[in-house]
Amino acid sequence: MEPKERVKELRELLERYNYEYYILNASSVSDAEFDRLMNELIMLENEYPELRSNLSPTQRVGGAVASEFKKVTHKRLMLSLANAFDEDDLKDFDRKVKEALNVDKVTYMAEMKIDGLAMSLDYANGALNYAVTRGDGNVGEDVTQNVITIKSIPTHIKTDRPFEVRGEVYMPKASLISLNEEREKTNQPLLANARNAAAGSIRQLDSKVAAFRKLEAYWYYFVNANEFGFTKHSEALKYIEELGFRTNKERRLCDGIDEVLAYIEEYTLKRPNLDYDIDGIVIKVDDMTKYDTLGYTAKTPKWAIAYKFPPEEVQTKLEDIIFTVGRTGKITPNAVLSPVRVAGSMIQRATLHNEDFIISKEMKIGDTVVIRKAGDVIPEVVKCLPEKRTGNERPFEMIDNCPVCGEPLVKIDAMHFCKNPRCDAKHIEGLIHFASRDAMDIEGLGDKIVELLFNEKFIHDIPSIYNLYTFRQDIIFMDGFKDKSVDNLIEAIERSKQNSLEKLIFGLGIKEVGEKTAKILARRYIELEKLMEADYEELLGIPDIGPISASSIYEYFHNEENIKLINDLKQLGLNMKYLGKVASDDSSPFYGKTVVLTGTLSSMGRKEATELLESLGAKVAGSVSKKTDYVIFGVEAGSKLDKANELGVKTLDEESFLALANANDK
Ligand code: IVH
Repeated sequence: MEPKERVKELRELLERYNYEYYILNASSVSDAEFDRLMNELIMLENEYPELRSNLSPTQRVGGAVASEFKKVTHKRLMLSLANAFDEDDLKDFDRKVKEALNVDKVTYMAEMKIDGLAMSLDYANGALNYAVTRGDGNVGEDVTQNVITIKSIPTHIKTDRPFEVRGEVYMPKASLISLNEEREKTNQPLLANARNAAAGSIRQLDSKVAAFRKLEAYWYYFVNANEFGFTKHSEALKYIEELGFRTNKERRLCDGIDEVLAYIEEYTLKRPNLDYDIDGIVIKVDDMTKYDTLGYTAKTPKWAIAYKFPPEEVQTKLEDIIFTVGRTGKITPNAVLSPVRVAGSMIQRATLHNEDFIISKEMKIGDTVVIRKAGDVIPEVVKCLPEKRTGNERPFEMIDNCPVCGEPLVKIDAMHFCKNPRCDAKHIEGLIHFASRDAMDIEGLGDKIVELLFNEKFIHDIPSIYNLYTFRQDIIFMDGFKDKSVDNLIEAIERSKQNSLEKLIFGLGIKEVGEKTAKILARRYIELEKLMEADYEELLGIPDIGPISASSIYEYFHNEENIKLINDLKQLGLNMKYLGKVASDDSSPFYGKTVVLTGTLSSMGRKEATELLESLGAKVAGSVSKKTDYVIFGVEAGSKLDKANELGVKTLDEESFLALANANDK
């Protein structure tokens, strides 16, 4: 047999065995036989490099190393889901669906809401074309080589037609435990939870690392169901299952919302016994012919909803309360907790906000407290349990002096501040903020290094960062630094001089000026000098800027010290101009795209919309053709919208347009 044919035969055999093993859980060959065939294929691919393929079963153990991930535009926007938190939200959803469809009862599909990361698999001519992450919903990253290390995912399917499925890649609970055991042995930091672990694995540039991570996937959405003649989501799922995609068996068709509620109750109890993490239950209208009638919001379909389980609460001991000083001088009390696992990660600190918060909860040091993760990310202290007191608890006392410089604190509303402009803590926090990613993005200048360089007196204020290079020789001899890391740091500092103005404005740490306001100001004034000249009224006139921010901005730029700081930075060569989105920033989904506007938008006029689009790098055209990338429609849109639909051009309603336009504004 010709090598080419044998390679084909081996690949087909190995893929079939993979399918049997990973999907059907029933192998028709021994491990030894599988290995023998795999080895034969590896040898042939080595001998005949021209026969190699990215989709070969040999690639499923990893091997390919990428330098970056290619960006891919989704053929259809990759949506997320609206959330429901309780029975009322679910009944509300049901009511709206019934009203829109004018029926008494709806059949829903209830499914596990897998806690992983969303993935799209696109096939062309029966072979996997690419596996892409959701990204911003419009553009994601091509992570095919990592995704095919998940052996249950078919690299080939029995249909040549355009075909896309979407689902969730996740890390089974057992994989996370064994991975963390391994990491503990080799002194590597532990992965906080299954979702982060899955996302981190998929973003590995070295596919061997991804292969080692033992991920899995479930597929829950067949994008082309309609073209394939399916009218029910449940049937579409059955079909993709037949084609070899792993679907979740816990799903159940529910006749009406009451059955959905019973299903949720059942799985709230079963949840701990599943071998993967779920963070809720997804409910979808089964009849897909109703999807268009039900419609969409900017980011979510109205025919589905995600019920989210209430956050997990655990008890632990409040060991102590310590105080930190922020860059505005604000004092924050923090709970020091006996380490405890909540929603998959270890927690030992949580903010207690301010004195009043602690007093209102009647908390004592040594108390047993209940904590949970708000929005699954930030840990919060819910309450203390006085009934668990032993008598050894100490009362909480607010401090009167700054824990860093000793200056008496000033109380404003519920908060305490250190007003000493020379307080080290404020300086350090201010410098950390200046260098942070969303501000000047100086790589290598994180919390610890700032603190170290500050304590060694190599930096004391913002301009001194830009003179750090004069200490190169001294820094090299410090613990933890090497030639190369010092040089990289100095280079990163130099590079930051070219940042666009909004990063500098945000980095200055003006009270009330977050990243978004910084961007608004930079876009509006283009040059820092112009912003400095703005008076209070003018600032107040800017949409999104209220009286408190306006006066804070005005005061900041009329303070001698700050004016000197900005002059110093200018002398040091920092860019003071907005380098803008126009033509230089391709991070907007509209960059380089041809867009047509039709109908009336409610939030802005035609001229404003055009300006906004142009500032995002789009070309705004008057008529729709095959070359049009998007048609944005408002009310009373006419023939242009019809034409767009006819040509298959992507259309966006006002909400979706604004969501995409603001996608990078955070
Ligand atoms: S359906 C338009 N089904 O949860 C279809 N999503 O919070 C949108 N997810 O973005 C997705 N399990 O990443 C769907 N059975 C399931 C899911 C599921 C997990 C994820 C998915 C989605 C997110 C929304």
